[in-house]
Amino acid sequence: MRAAGAVVPLGLTLSLCCLHPRCTESAAFPKGCYPSEEEGLKTFRCSNARLTEVPRDIPNDTNKLYLDSNRIPFLPRDAFRELPLLLELDLSHNAIASVESGAFRGLAEHLRSLDLSSNKLVSVSKDAFSNLQAKVNLSDNPWLCDCRLQELIRTVELAAGSSAGIVCGSSAQEEHVGKAFLQVIADTDLCNVYKKTTDVAMLVTMFGWFAMVISYLVYYVRQNQEDARRHLEYLKSLPSKQRRSEESSTISTVV
Ligand SMILES: *[C@@H]1O[C@H](CO)[C@@H](O)[C@H](O)[C@H]1NC(C)=O
Ligand SMILES: *[C@@H]1O[C@H](CO)[C@@H](O)[C@H](O)[C@H]1NC(C)=O
Repeated sequence: MRAAGAVVPLGLTLSLCCLHPRCTESAAFPKGCYPSEEEGLKTFRCSNARLTEVPRDIPNDTNKLYLDSNRIPFLPRDAFRELPLLLELDLSHNAIASVESGAFRGLAEHLRSLDLSSNKLVSVSKDAFSNLQAKVNLSDNPWLCDCRLQELIRTVELAAGSSAGIVCGSSAQEEHVGKAFLQVIADTDLCNVYKKTTDVAMLVTMFGWFAMVISYLVYYVRQNQEDARRHLEYLKSLPSKQRRSEESSTISTVV
């Protein structure tokens, strides 16, 4: 009797729930996602939902979006275009290895927090973050420490206390690997190193051209000296010929 009594209210709540508009609405949400209201902000949680891409059909009035702990490998252009009221975006603990430029387009004015920590980011163009006002967490990624990362770090505003977590996973300079990136660029301007190497390359090329021009000139002058010498010899041989021809003319007049 007691067991039957427990079953009835459960069935009743289930049927009541499905009459509720929020319940029928949730069927349209991406699998593993659910909406809530937190501190007056419309929140949409898709944490741990085995997502392999940014889901469509996220309510367009969402203020906080949690996509953390999924398997999203990359962020395409306009990935969040339909979410003009987004304030906070958590993409941490995914497999994001590339971010297309324009991925965060449409979020420039409102977004205040962007978490990209614990992903697989190696190199991202600063264009991907252009105009973004948000505080960004880029820690715990296998960053390639180069000029591109330096430009990126100078473009974005890092989340407070998150900068120590940006560590070089690889670098042209072996001694930078494993070091905090901000420490590396405090000592070395990676963009200037790059500029220096291009300068050196330019200098070498210019010197090469210069050497070629000089050697051609030397060759040309030598060749001409030879010609000049031959010409001089020819000129020297001329007077005698002329003399001979004069002699022959006198002879002819005599005749
Ligand atoms: C959300 O989409 C609906 C229907 O397309 C539209 O009427 C509404 O203005 C949109 N809201 C926002 C905040 O863009
Ligand atoms: C940034 O991300 C790291 C790694 O996930 C985390 O430990 C840290 O608390 C985050 N910092 C901020 C300010 O969000």
